[in-house]
Amino acid sequence: ATVGIIFGGKSAEHEVSLQSAKNIVDAIDKSKYDVVLIGIDKEGKWHLNDQSSYLLNEENPKLIQLNKTNKSIAVVPGESSNQLVALSDSQGLDQLDVVFPILHGTLGEDGSIQGMLRIANLPFVGTGVLGSAVSMDKDIAKRLLKEAGIQVAKSVTYTKNKLSSVNYEEVKEKLDLPMFIKPANQGSSVGVSKVRNEQEFYQGLKEAFQYDHKVLIEETIVGREVEVAVLGNEDPIASLPGEILPQTDFYSYESKYIDEKGADLAIPAELSDEITEKVQKAAIEVFQSLNCEGLARVDFFLKEDGELVVNEVNTLPGFTRISMYPKLWEISGISYPELINKLIELAIE
Ligand code: DAL
Ligand code: MG
Repeated sequence: ATVGIIFGGKSAEHEVSLQSAKNIVDAIDKSKYDVVLIGIDKEGKWHLNDQSSYLLNEENPKLIQLNKTNKSIAVVPGESSNQLVALSDSQGLDQLDVVFPILHGTLGEDGSIQGMLRIANLPFVGTGVLGSAVSMDKDIAKRLLKEAGIQVAKSVTYTKNKLSSVNYEEVKEKLDLPMFIKPANQGSSVGVSKVRNEQEFYQGLKEAFQYDHKVLIEETIVGREVEVAVLGNEDPIASLPGEILPQTDFYSYESKYIDEKGADLAIPAELSDEITEKVQKAAIEVFQSLNCEGLARVDFFLKEDGELVVNEVNTLPGFTRISMYPKLWEISGISYPELINKLIELAIE
C-alpha cells in the first residue's frame, strides 16, 4: 500500500510536527509500505518531497526544517474515489491508499484536513472530523466531558469581542490564584500563561488572544500529571500511564521541546495497580465521549485523594523524541514500528 505522510503545516506546532514526522518515517516498515512525503510549509503551501531530503537543515543538523522543494503543489480532491490530485504536479498523490496526517494543532488536528481527506475518499490515520474538532477546542471538549460525568477543571471562557467585560476580581473570586490562561484551540502549551496577579492576568489574556479568538481561564488543579495512550476504534485499549515531572513552573512549550532539563518523564508512572486500572478505564471513557478514533493521548491530573481530572485530549499527539505516546506503547508491549503499522491498519479497517 502507498501511505501519504502529511506533515509541517501552518500551525504554531509546525516544528513539533516535523520532529514527529521524522520519527514516523524512520519507523515505518518500508518493505510493506511505499511512502509519499507531503510537506506543508508555514505559509500553507504544499510540497512533494524526496525520500532523501524531505527534512533537513544544512546549517544546523540538530534542527529539523522542512526542505521546500520547488515541487510546490496545489491539491484538490479527484473526480473518482481515492484520489487527491495535485494541480501542478500529479506525481504520486493520486496513488495514495491511506494518509497519515501527522500535523498538530490548527488545520491539522481540528477536523480541517480530516474533512478534506474524507471528501477525497481517502482513509486516514486517527480521529474523524467531529471528534477532531471537539477535542481540539478545550471549551467544547470540557462541556462534553462534563456531560458524560467526567471531571474537568473549573474555568471561564471569553471570546475576543467580550474582552472588555472580563473582570480580574470576579474571575479571581471564582477560580483563585494562581490560574491558567489558554487559547481554546492550541497545542504544546503555545500561548499558555500562569497567572499570579492582575498584571499577569491581562498580559496572559493578550498573549492567548494572539492565537485564538476564544480563551479559557482555568483554576489550578494540584496533582500529578498523568498521561495515557489510547489505541483502537470501536474497542480501544489503553497503555500503562506515564507521568510528567516538570522541572519548571509548568509544562510549557520551552520545557517540552527547547530546555534540555525542562521536564522528566516517568514511564511508566509509579502508581498502584488499582490507580493504574482506574486511569486506563477513565482514558477509554474520555476517548469514547469525544468520538475519538485510532489514537489519542489523554492527559489527566491525579489529585492526592485519588480523584482524576481531565486536562486535555490530543487526537494527534506528538511523536517526537520526548513524546509520551509511542513510549507508552513501547513499555506496554507494542514497539514503534508495530505501532505505526497498527495505526495504518486501523485507518483502512
Ligand atoms: N500537542 C502536542 C504535539 C502533544 O500533545 O504531544
Ligand atoms: Mg495538546
